[in-house]
Amino acid sequence: MHDILVSARNAGVEFIQPNGEKVRVLEGINCDIVGGDRIVLSGPSGSGKSTLLNILGGLIVPSEGTVTWPALGNRATLQPAKIAYVFQAESLFPALNVLENVMLPLKLMGNLLGSADAASALLERLQLDGLSKKLPEELSGGQAQRVAMARAMVVKPRLILADEPTGQLDSTTAHQFLGRVLEFADENELAVVVATHDRLIAGFMQKQWSIDHGQLATPQNI
Ligand SMILES: Nc1ncnc2c1ncn2[C@@H]1O[C@H](COP(=O)(O)OP(=O)(O)OP(=O)(O)O)[C@@H](O)[C@H]1O
Ligand SMILES: [Mg+2]
Repeated sequence: MHDILVSARNAGVEFIQPNGEKVRVLEGINCDIVGGDRIVLSGPSGSGKSTLLNILGGLIVPSEGTVTWPALGNRATLQPAKIAYVFQAESLFPALNVLENVMLPLKLMGNLLGSADAASALLERLQLDGLSKKLPEELSGGQAQRVAMARAMVVKPRLILADEPTGQLDSTTAHQFLGRVLEFADENELAVVVATHDRLIAGFMQKQWSIDHGQLATPQNI
């Protein structure tokens, strides 16, 4: 349960702009995510939250330092079975309805027969079953965010990295939904990291990380 899922040591990210200039976005990042963690990552717009989730999820390689996944294996094997990522931007496949979007990661993992039942059960549990037959273009932004979260959860990964998953929800809906997500995470021993501006979400999570100008403060390194 308390395996180290992700470990970053002195990790940094530098982007090269079209004019050749380098921009430093993350610097000296040291953190661990262990099994069952509940972490909220907060910080101002542009502070590096999405970039940090990207390196922790193995989607981008840090320009210096290391990110490793001691209990999960190497970068190539992480997604979607072990780490599921909920993107800040809309990410549902437009040609697939809600149920088909949520079934997709199971199908990619070779679960062809059980995927419809598992996806339906999860949508029902998250009170999204009324949306099953809708296409993404028929959803509100907040509904699309919740379906994207369901798609991440359906494979029961060891870790969910969710980037502003409630950014388009009113606070009552956001908190009810997060409550259901965390109950599912408890039952299935999933670790959850949520990047958000919503201060109230911190109350749901056990660990508070904050980032400012690319520097991360965690309870261990404050
Ligand atoms: N691919 C990229 N190339 C160049 N600069 C980038 C790139 N991605 C992000 N940045 C810059 O890195 C900084 C951090 O961006 P990031 O998206 O991580 O911030 P954030 O904390 O998630 O912001 P928000 O709360 O608005 O989502 C910003 O200044 C951004 O302009
Ligand atoms: Mg962001």
